[in-house]
Amino acid sequence: MAEKQKNIILTGDRPTGKLHIGHYVGSLKRRVALQESGAYDEIYILIADAQALTDNADNPQKIRDNIIEVALDYLSCGIDPEKTTICIQSALPALTELSFYYMNLVTTARLERNPTVKTEIRMRGFDKGGEGIPVGFYTYPISQAADITAFKANCVPVGEDQMPMLEQCREIVHKFNSTYGEVLVDPRIMLNDNETCRRLPGTDGKAKMSKSLGNCIYLSDSREALHKSVMSMFTDPNHINISDPGQVEGNAVFTYLDAFATDGHFQRYLPDYENLAQMKDHYRRGGLGDVKCKKFLEKVLNEELDPIRERRARWEADIPGVYEILREGTERARKKTQETLEEVRAAMKINYFDNNALISEWMERHPAGKA
Ligand code: TRP
Repeated sequence: MAEKQKNIILTGDRPTGKLHIGHYVGSLKRRVALQESGAYDEIYILIADAQALTDNADNPQKIRDNIIEVALDYLSCGIDPEKTTICIQSALPALTELSFYYMNLVTTARLERNPTVKTEIRMRGFDKGGEGIPVGFYTYPISQAADITAFKANCVPVGEDQMPMLEQCREIVHKFNSTYGEVLVDPRIMLNDNETCRRLPGTDGKAKMSKSLGNCIYLSDSREALHKSVMSMFTDPNHINISDPGQVEGNAVFTYLDAFATDGHFQRYLPDYENLAQMKDHYRRGGLGDVKCKKFLEKVLNEELDPIRERRARWEADIPGVYEILREGTERARKKTQETLEEVRAAMKINYFDNNALISEWMERHPAGKA
């Protein structure tokens, strides 16, 4: 390839629900920072509706509704459609075609070994009775490899739960390139350096925020809803009286503070302490009550969420404008992915009608009159 490798980012989300602050610290906030860094030539965010359908075949309405929700979440967080292309997966036919060719480069045994697929099969109960595992679901790691490679992305900033997907994608890239020639770009996963941000627990202290557990704080939550969530948050069940020593490990309030609080927040809202380490020491010693901690956390979160709420209100008043952003972004993405598809077809020499090798090679091997 003569062309210098561009710096291209691709990320995506399944539109199965509104995004929450776990998505925000785990990924969204950084996408905005990467967008503003100016270090990338192209940035794409894929709303992965086709992937969402792999285990929601009976509920396209839910997916349709959440495309708008997720787009609103992006725009509210500061994703700028002038700098980042937001696009809809199912409107990019090149992705489907790429998946179809990549399927021949992956074994069923390899798919079965994919840890994300394994866990999800268990989580969704596909393994227990019912109708079994939908083929589309089973093969979605291949379709995700198509997403990533179609944009020639070299950088994929996602949560660590996506690591097995990236590994599988890289295997497909290597297999393709060694079989047909160097066309696909080897993508690198970009994880968040802040450990806490990678996996923010739910407000109940459980492992992960999830809609079904009702332990989420959504980016679209009002100040009132946030107040309720924070005040009912899981802390240390043995910290009964203020004077009791408390534990900060596994205490959701402190985990959230780890993810969000800066020294500046202490100066502005809780000057009793210079920083989080001092506050934690006091909590551990005893004498610091949960309510005081929660009130501080609430202020910290509101400082982060207020500008997001304001932008959201503006975009909510212009849904046709949001739709237009999606339409234009998808159009741009369609061109980009189509180009890659054409290179792939050329490398595989299945572009029969773009190059006459089909007949010229045949004729060479079959000199006239000797067919
Ligand atoms: N699987 C991702 C998730 O569940 C969503 C996704 C689809 C994605 N295609 C992608 C992420 C391509 C990164 C790159 O969150």
